[in-house]
Amino acid sequence: MSDRPFTFDIPLPGVIPTRYDHHITRRLSEMVGYYADEQAFAAALAEKDETLYEVYEIRRPERAGELLHGVSIVHPGKIGNEYFMTKGHFHAVLETAEVYYCLQGEGYMVMETPEGECVVQPLRPNTVLYVPPRWAHRSVNCSDESDLATFFVYPGNAGHNYGSVAERGFRKRVVERDGRPQIIDNPRWRS
Ligand code: PA5
Ligand code: NI
Repeated sequence: MSDRPFTFDIPLPGVIPTRYDHHITRRLSEMVGYYADEQAFAAALAEKDETLYEVYEIRRPERAGELLHGVSIVHPGKIGNEYFMTKGHFHAVLETAEVYYCLQGEGYMVMETPEGECVVQPLRPNTVLYVPPRWAHRSVNCSDESDLATFFVYPGNAGHNYGSVAERGFRKRVVERDGRPQIIDNPRWRS
């Protein structure tokens, strides 16, 4: 890892950064329990263990003062009527923020605090989103054909806490109704 200044490019379209240290691929089989329609999930998985999203990370030491960053790409698709999305997480150090810059595509960032405040923010190219400390966040791609690509930056010591979202889900879900995205209450949310 270099401690000297460096640059890289994010080609548009394409969005795979010209420099990265780590490429994460999240497949359907890693998302058991995340989608509301379990039957549709099982049917989709029986057909193909599809890649739902990918992350290209520029790694930095995991300590305060450093900034981890990279590109997140959520592919288009749905499980039942629910759009492809990331797992979503709180930061392990809850009091750490994150900045997202939407490079390509259309979608939403679903966010909530442990106290139950919710915000679902639309994302389109050139939108900058500030996710304050304490807000869990999940990217949702609501296009039928394009990837949703975002550039993200967060503190090196933030870490990821997937547990509570995996157990309870987010309070809101983004689904397709009559050909359009709709934000609904999560019928399976557990307190
Ligand atoms: O740090 C972030 O919030 C992003 O890099 C996400 O990790 C990325 O979008 C993948 O989402 P998740 O970590 O919830 O699977
Ligand atoms: Ni994050």
